[in-house]
Amino acid sequence: MPAISATAPGKAILVGEHAVVYGQPAIAVPVEQVRARAIVKAAPDRAAGEIRLQAPAIELDARLEDLPENHPLAAALRGVFKELGIARPPAFDLRVTATIPAAAGLGSGAAVSVAAIRATAEFLGRRLADEQVSRLAYEVEKLYHGTPSGIDNTVIAYRRPVYFVRGSPQNLIEIISVGRMFTLAIGDTGIPGPTAITVGEVRQGWQARPEHYERLFAAAGALARRARGCLEGGDLEELGRLMNENQVILEKMGVSSPDLDRLVQAALQAGALGAKLSGAGGGGNMIALVEPDQAERIAQALRRAGARQTWITTIAAASKGEENGESRIQRGA
Ligand code: PMV
Repeated sequence: MPAISATAPGKAILVGEHAVVYGQPAIAVPVEQVRARAIVKAAPDRAAGEIRLQAPAIELDARLEDLPENHPLAAALRGVFKELGIARPPAFDLRVTATIPAAAGLGSGAAVSVAAIRATAEFLGRRLADEQVSRLAYEVEKLYHGTPSGIDNTVIAYRRPVYFVRGSPQNLIEIISVGRMFTLAIGDTGIPGPTAITVGEVRQGWQARPEHYERLFAAAGALARRARGCLEGGDLEELGRLMNENQVILEKMGVSSPDLDRLVQAALQAGALGAKLSGAGGGGNMIALVEPDQAERIAQALRRAGARQTWITTIAAASKGEENGESRIQRGA
């Protein structure tokens, strides 16, 4: 049996990180230049149920049964077996690799989960819907930090720009009908920014000064609503201004850092339309909205200002049907 491979993109949050955990809307886009890949190979010489997991980047080489309940990759696989009602899967090897830097705000955890879930399901002869993949990946996200909004697993499973509102009992997920192609330059501070830490710090800040933080969350939510209009209408100048405003709010939440601030300033000085940290902050990545012909120059400016790595990514305009307002609206986990 040939090996089965599945990949998943990274992601960037355009507007609304952190506030999205508190029920405000946020917008995220897939970043196709960085990817996670999962490869599944049958191991017919082993007994059914014997599954081996390998992830060289984290020096993981273990049998599934030896991994604890809360191990993210093990949890992803167990979730697939449960979803498909398979008690004893045939023996296989699963190997995971990624070009997405870890703990950097680019969704590496969710991308690894999505790729592993898709490859495993396909190996078992089933193709899962995006909604199912997202829901299973969300269960894994909870192991990284207790209160994930669900935006990472959603944008990565759907691979489309999404307007996302965390809700109870259901999230609102709308695929944005992008009116005009746009380009982002992404700069990596090279400093890890673990999501659990900054999300925890924002929670502490909110508990200590609820009114202050709720004002910041509401302001970020208002920016996300306006940014959606800019994306649909193709008003990139205004979108850039909204990203700058979002950066100020994130600074007030305490999740930016001197390295992120330096890269944001470098991008703006080099002519970006807007720039902000993206993801949990505290380190990790920033994004700059750029004119396509300026992208390489701005990426260079980011590297001169200390970015360890840079990427340039474009988000395509919606195809014809979607331009007519037929954006997919989904309510799901
Ligand atoms: O984990 P990251 O850095 O890719 O971004 C998560 C975005 C947050 O809003 C900070 C947390 C969340 O669960 O939405």
